[in-house]
Amino acid sequence: MACECHATEEAAEQQILDIVEAHKNRPGPLIPILDEVQASLGWLPKSAIITIARSLGVPVADIYGVASFYSFFRLVPPGKTKIQVCMGTACYVRGSQQLLDALERKLKIKAGETTPDRQFTLESVRCVGACSLAPVIVTGEDCHAGMTSAKIDKMLKPYMQEEPAAAKRG
Ligand code: FES
Repeated sequence: MACECHATEEAAEQQILDIVEAHKNRPGPLIPILDEVQASLGWLPKSAIITIARSLGVPVADIYGVASFYSFFRLVPPGKTKIQVCMGTACYVRGSQQLLDALERKLKIKAGETTPDRQFTLESVRCVGACSLAPVIVTGEDCHAGMTSAKIDKMLKPYMQEEPAAAKRG
């Protein structure tokens, strides 16, 4: 009997094959395939890229070339919490660039990157549809209105990883 994780891998592979099948006879199928696979898995693991390459009959390196060229494709798994800084016009004129800069300094990553502990992924995004609340940052499902750099620590606190019990005691 196959183990549960093997069954999950098989289901994921079948899902990728279905996506490839749905697009492969259309013109320029690779970008929509990568886009759908990423939407489904949250990122583009090596195994998915190999499956796509085999299904399309193209070299794996070609798929990597395209996936790594476009910044919106993720070749590493996203962090547990996605932080989206709105860079739409209303937010931008109210200081969202400073918010993004402050988050980059705080998390020691650039927009589009994930912290080494995989806790946070930082993104700059277009208008999230809450312009009257600008500047806005979205963390997971939460929308933080009227953000300032001074509010960043408080905003991040609920998402920070708990220290191991031993470390707390020490
Ligand atoms: S510009 Fe930021 S919510 Fe619209």
